[in-house]
Amino acid sequence: MIQYDAENRLFHLHNAQISCVLSLLKDELGYDELMMPYFGTPLADPSAALKQINHTNGVSFDTDRQYLPYACPTDGRGDYRPVMLRTRDAAGQRCSELFFTGYRMESGAQQLNGLPCTYAESPDEAQTLYITLRDEWTGLEAELAYTIYNDLSAVITSACYRNGGTETLVLENAGSFCLTLPGRYDMLHLHGAWGRERSVERVAPATMTRMIDSARGSSGHEHNPFAVLMDSDTTEFSGRCWGVNLVYSGDFAISVDESPFDSTRLVAGLNPRTFEWRLEPEAQFQAPQAVCVYADKGLNAMSQTFHKLYRTRLYRGPWRDRERPILVNNWEATYFNFDHEKVMQIAGTAAKLGIEMFVLDDGWFGHRDNDTTSLGDWVVDRRKLPDGLEKLVDDVHSLGLKFGLWFEPEMISPDSDLYRAHPDWCLHVTGRRRTEARNQLILDMSRSDVQDYIIEAVSTVLRSADIQYVKWDMNRNFTEAGSDWLTDGREGELAHRYILGVYRVMDAITTAFPEILFEGCSGGGGRFDAGILHYMPQIWTSDNTDAGARLKIQYGTSICYPPSAMGAHVCSHGRGNVKVRGDVALGGNFGYELDLSVQTEEDLEIMRQQVERMKKIRHTTQQGIFTRLASPFDGNLTAWQFVDDERVIVCIYRAIAPSNSVRERIRLHQIPAGNYQMPDGRIVTANELECVGVCPTFGHGDFSSDVIILEKQKD
Ligand code: DGJ
Repeated sequence: MIQYDAENRLFHLHNAQISCVLSLLKDELGYDELMMPYFGTPLADPSAALKQINHTNGVSFDTDRQYLPYACPTDGRGDYRPVMLRTRDAAGQRCSELFFTGYRMESGAQQLNGLPCTYAESPDEAQTLYITLRDEWTGLEAELAYTIYNDLSAVITSACYRNGGTETLVLENAGSFCLTLPGRYDMLHLHGAWGRERSVERVAPATMTRMIDSARGSSGHEHNPFAVLMDSDTTEFSGRCWGVNLVYSGDFAISVDESPFDSTRLVAGLNPRTFEWRLEPEAQFQAPQAVCVYADKGLNAMSQTFHKLYRTRLYRGPWRDRERPILVNNWEATYFNFDHEKVMQIAGTAAKLGIEMFVLDDGWFGHRDNDTTSLGDWVVDRRKLPDGLEKLVDDVHSLGLKFGLWFEPEMISPDSDLYRAHPDWCLHVTGRRRTEARNQLILDMSRSDVQDYIIEAVSTVLRSADIQYVKWDMNRNFTEAGSDWLTDGREGELAHRYILGVYRVMDAITTAFPEILFEGCSGGGGRFDAGILHYMPQIWTSDNTDAGARLKIQYGTSICYPPSAMGAHVCSHGRGNVKVRGDVALGGNFGYELDLSVQTEEDLEIMRQQVERMKKIRHTTQQGIFTRLASPFDGNLTAWQFVDDERVIVCIYRAIAPSNSVRERIRLHQIPAGNYQMPDGRIVTANELECVGVCPTFGHGDFSSDVIILEKQKD
């Protein structure tokens, strides 16, 4: 998979789906600089990639720096595009030049300490190339890692920066990945806000820098740490695209710069606006991983590679491959207003419908009757649950249901015993006010004593009863992001150290309780990223459970993340009826978010059937291949399909009922050869499904849906 060609001085990372070429180029002083001249469709002759550099003949090297495909561009030497590395030396100078010093290759995938990463299950399924670069003047070294798997059209990269000099250096920028492509590209990204996360936006090429970022302390609702470069004629089913996703949950930046020299550069990494890191001699700094997926058959092919990688080599633990339980969550049913009896009412109805788990959301601890109080005091509220958590969990279990519990471990209410005991444990800048959001402050997760406290407080509750699921919430962004211990030039380390602390806590708790299914959450889907998915194989996609809004949210989310990562629940409000909401929620980890004890018998019967259907097909929706067929961002119909060896599931949704029109028809894609049984008993071939398609049966009126399940016939 990785070869070094000594004659052409290049590294070729390749499999049947992809070629990535890294090469050495002498600069005017005779030093070797590292380029990435090619990333794309497999090359028969990797040395052909060098031609993309050689057109620089006759141009002075200084000018060339403005479009050469540097693998790790730095500031201060004539490359004026976004760079990966900027250092400040003891004299305050910001110049670094990185020259090649060596390489090594190892079997397996690169593993990071303290940061989320993809992995290999056996050493022969992946290979990793490590290349070392060095700045002679400061002694700063960069070790770049590139992992390629046997069967995935992806390269996973990262950079580790080490101070090999004798004086302290400050990292002002420590990027993860740089991709430079010849030509101009559309950029696709996922933007949003609370309640409308991950909307798809495609931006035309422009000779400028386009940037998405977060400075909020988490990856955020506004921009996902994900961007795609694509040809202007690329569609869901054809054309070239390069998707880059950071395996990171904190402040990030992805810049796409189109230079006047017909070259486009993407740089992904930590956000330099909220990052600075003091690097003492011998110390090193590990930047997060970035995943770069290439497809030459459109966005669906790219998404399917991300999905497969994340489902099989990013999620960890026993829940990676298990079917996810169908749950009912009490948040939208009761908010803070519940007691033992109310919970048992909901759980009792849930059991009759075949639902498998009850999740108790916010409000079970301290004296939390509203959002002004008690975060940090993870002790059961005996006013609401007089017999305690253990009794409630036992009672729910006796109905045949699993039990799940909500936490918001990273937060502290000013009205809490924890805050009264430790007012210095929240993020704050001494002398400034402490801005509250949702009446709460953020715990200083950069402190090891705070991390230890959370590990112990959450673990104590999890040990106290047989809890099988945890919803891990996080409901506000940073303000006054300071810490008492980060002084003397280390103030800029807070944002990254916060996330490192979160990862340490998540790792400790998920490792100690491997049988518990963890679900991430952040004011809905405000921290939906590959970093969280390393610890928790599912994330609450959005607080907006309106089925119409959810079509866009789930469609956009699927561009990078697998359906098995998305929490999707049926609620009691918004567009469509309970059938349509169930058909939409089927596209993720299915559940209910309503008061089951007050539903009509008719709706309960529809829900019972939905649960029965979901149990039968969830293997296909959670582990099968997902393909988007029609976009809610483009027209009246939304459609997607799931395919595995057993069946094809086509989900079709119509927003507005047209008048005087013919029936809609949807053609399916990449259906495995064979015969399939339609719901009406007819047998159709894969060829017919692809060439002619299926006609959905919609109900009357606006906002309607059809789910067609096609069972594959045994030969
Ligand atoms: C925000 C989450 O997204 C909701 O689902 C719910 O858990 C609330 N927090 C509880 O405060």
